[in-house]
Amino acid sequence: MIKHDVVVVGGGLAGMRAAVEAAEAGADVAIVSKMHPVRSHSGAAQGGINAALGNREDDSPENHAFDCVKGSDYLGDQDSIEAMAEDAPRQIVWLEHRGCIFSRLPDGRIAQRPFGGAGSPRTCYSADVTGLVILHTLWEQLERFNVKVYEEYFATALCIEDGIGTGVVAYNMRSGELELVTAKATIFATGGLGRVYAKTTNGYASTGDGMAIAYRAGIPLMDMEFVQFHPTSLKENGVLLSEAARGEGAYLLNSEGERFMFKYAPNKGELASRDVVSRAEWTEITEGRGIDGCVMLDLRHLGREKILERLPQIRELALDATGKDAIDTPIPILPGMHYAMGGIETDKFGATRIPGVYAAGEVACVSVHGANRLGGNSLLETIVFGARSAKHAVQYIKSVGNVRSSDKTLANEKDRIAAILARTGGERHSAVRKQINNLMSDNVFIFRNDAELTTATNGLREAREAAATMTVMDKSKTFNTDLVGLLETEFLMDVAQPIAFGALKRTESRGAQSRTDFPNRDDENWMKHSLMHYKGQKADPEADYSREVTYTKYKPEVRSY
Ligand code: FUM
Repeated sequence: MIKHDVVVVGGGLAGMRAAVEAAEAGADVAIVSKMHPVRSHSGAAQGGINAALGNREDDSPENHAFDCVKGSDYLGDQDSIEAMAEDAPRQIVWLEHRGCIFSRLPDGRIAQRPFGGAGSPRTCYSADVTGLVILHTLWEQLERFNVKVYEEYFATALCIEDGIGTGVVAYNMRSGELELVTAKATIFATGGLGRVYAKTTNGYASTGDGMAIAYRAGIPLMDMEFVQFHPTSLKENGVLLSEAARGEGAYLLNSEGERFMFKYAPNKGELASRDVVSRAEWTEITEGRGIDGCVMLDLRHLGREKILERLPQIRELALDATGKDAIDTPIPILPGMHYAMGGIETDKFGATRIPGVYAAGEVACVSVHGANRLGGNSLLETIVFGARSAKHAVQYIKSVGNVRSSDKTLANEKDRIAAILARTGGERHSAVRKQINNLMSDNVFIFRNDAELTTATNGLREAREAAATMTVMDKSKTFNTDLVGLLETEFLMDVAQPIAFGALKRTESRGAQSRTDFPNRDDENWMKHSLMHYKGQKADPEADYSREVTYTKYKPEVRSY
């Protein structure tokens, strides 16, 4: 049996930052990850990481916090947001001191670019490969502290004994065996759920694993209806073309060659918040001013030198997928599913309702993004709350003696997986996944309404029935990707429902939730978080609106850009 003080589930930026923090504090810490950490989806984050360093213009953590509160359409918890904005400059220095190579201003200070919804240029970056550069920096720190990494271990269940978290059960993909990973504290850092949708900027591994595991174990998922559609995903394949392009001055054009964003956001234009830009693009497309179902991202005026220096990756991504060179041709883009604002409910330290269980990064809802996240805050969240949750976990484990290992959970998981492998004649999991993907993409998109959301929730009930019969053709043990695909589809099923049900029940428009039948924000009735509780494989989630939004000093105002 594997045993550590702290187990971190997920090896992306939040997971590695948590592991390094715990290891530096002297804890015996391990990472359990379904892939090698440097292959994590964090590596696809391009444009940068926010911190009020004030290197280009005066800035302050207060300004950063205000932009986030406004960006969140006032649903973000202001104490968590302030904690993130305050800690941001320290974390950038921490990364810098550990060798992270940031792009520079001519005088040697860290360069910062403008990003959507931000009052000043506050996004620190490494060209347009920021996530990858930080990922490698943290990987070096894992090596430095000899953090044990259980790679190709796919977590399937949370262990709870005597009401406290005691680790996870994980499927060792090499051996095909389920193993118990016992720990006094468990930190989920498994990232997002983009694969719920048919097209997404997210990698294939983003299947909502940690959210589904925590949800099944009784921890509610919070604010799940708020899904971010990034304004610039490549039309051909859904791959991200960073907001950094617009930060560096790129235009969005419709079929008339018009920079249409100023109709929707007179002050900010292309650099309004993502929910605003995505809605504007979709309006242009549906009102007939698109070009073959998309709009254009135009970088030509930036010039070859700037594109090659600051945006080399997105030029290559576009060239590979479309054959078009952004240096001399506009690139067809459209909004694409990018980020889950919701996730595992935590407090501002990343602690969940179950003692010993934490969550950090996209898997968590610490409530720093509310109804809409600002670009550059996802990387920041991974670093700030990775460190913060680990700090808290290390304190917590001092008060915990030995924890019981959960043989019961291991036995249950063994029975469950054996039953799946023995099943014959049911649905293929690829067919169920497609059903979920189509329901979500067709009915829980940028603009939403009662009829489509009802179609989605009814359809997901049917998909749930089909999911209970899913089978695999490969019954072997070593690298059984068929089985892993089925287990991931079960996770997708579990996280799709809270999104669709949450969107149906929230009869208002706020941030990324835009209801054509309820077009206004309704602070009187809906200035509250949604919590979804798991009620078993055969039931709908139970909604609960008892958690209030935390205010400090920012009063709700009309939001415009
Ligand atoms: O556009 C981007 O580079 C994405 C950044 C983010 O999601 O924060």
